[in-house]
Amino acid sequence: MSSGYPDVFSAPGRRIGVEEEEAVLRVLRSGHLWRVDGTDTPALEHEFAELMGARHAAAFATGTASLHAAVAALDLEPGDEVIVPPITDAGTTIGVIAEGLVPVFADLDPVTGCLTAQTVAAAIGPRTRAVMVVHLFGGGADVEGIAEVCRPRGVRIIEDCAQAYWTRTPSGAVAGTVGDIGCFSLQQSKHVTTGDGGLLITDDPALARRARLFADKGWPREEGTRTHLEHGLNYRMSELIAAVARVQITRAVGVVADRRRVAQAWDQALERPGLTLAPRPEDHSYWLYPVVIDPAVIDRDQLVARIRAVGLPASAGYLERVLYANPVFTQRRTFGTSGWPFTLSERGSPHCPQAEILVGSTLVTIAVNENLTPAQIETSARDLAQIAADLGSTDA
Ligand SMILES: Cc1ncc(COP(=O)(O)O)c(C=O)c1O
Repeated sequence: MSSGYPDVFSAPGRRIGVEEEEAVLRVLRSGHLWRVDGTDTPALEHEFAELMGARHAAAFATGTASLHAAVAALDLEPGDEVIVPPITDAGTTIGVIAEGLVPVFADLDPVTGCLTAQTVAAAIGPRTRAVMVVHLFGGGADVEGIAEVCRPRGVRIIEDCAQAYWTRTPSGAVAGTVGDIGCFSLQQSKHVTTGDGGLLITDDPALARRARLFADKGWPREEGTRTHLEHGLNYRMSELIAAVARVQITRAVGVVADRRRVAQAWDQALERPGLTLAPRPEDHSYWLYPVVIDPAVIDRDQLVARIRAVGLPASAGYLERVLYANPVFTQRRTFGTSGWPFTLSERGSPHCPQAEILVGSTLVTIAVNENLTPAQIETSARDLAQIAADLGSTDA
């Protein structure tokens, strides 16, 4: 049955207004659509840095590109290891592999699905140089605890905030500002969007410069010569995208506030034994609304089917399989038949039991949207409360 709930794939579920339309037209009419010598991309970088309280920001073609540039900016050696979580988008690990680094999967908190200080500590080895901390679904990972483990060992931290605008970490910091670099995505499904796009923040001027150089062929344009200082790609954002992004980033605070309101109503509806809801809801930005079930008392497939039947998009496990169970990892499908860079590591096959349990049997996610009307919030919460009440009964 269709309930007409808004979703992020079309206008009713997005906040795209006349400001974005005017911005696109302004750039089109200027005739200058390229970031080089453009004005909107540097303005976006300046405005995003200010908004996030960071010293530097850089814009990229995608979130994956921003993460790739972040890893490249660390200037690591082939075969160095980067700790990554097994529940995330492939964009978290693509740049790691492309840089000849070995992704090492660490296990996750059984409720939040985020890396923890303990799981990171257990995964650190002599070649660990960095960790990609994903704030999964918009829940704030304990990046401060992870930093306590990493900093004394010289392990750098990249926060993957693709799903986490205005998420707060346990210390109350804005996600993305605790690690060495924070990366954000503007892809279609994210809190704010330009279709595709990425942003990076850092307080370190050297990291910002290297990340920018990496996204523009290693070419220091400001020096006025055609020199390629180092290896790089073309990951530039265009002025058209930047113009839209400048407006979209200003909408993120409101989007998150409204998603929290929906989540609060759903939290009340779903409070019952056998369901564990996201901790610290006031810090969560709810890219998705996660619920962890006790599979001994609740049939996950049945629960997901019932939620879908009332018109709310729900998923069992978020991913079909943990990231490391995909052929790119199991068959090392990277560069020809070389198996590189995995061949540079002595590590065996990854095994992260908590991550496998989340994907395989305990995690349910529901798509949440900022544009639900008060009536839709009420209806959806009432439906979820009924579903939760039925869970314990024999005919649920
Ligand atoms: C956690 C996470 N990391 C990285 C990415 C990659 O971002 P993009 O799709 O903008 O390349 C995404 C989203 O797709 C994501 O959800």
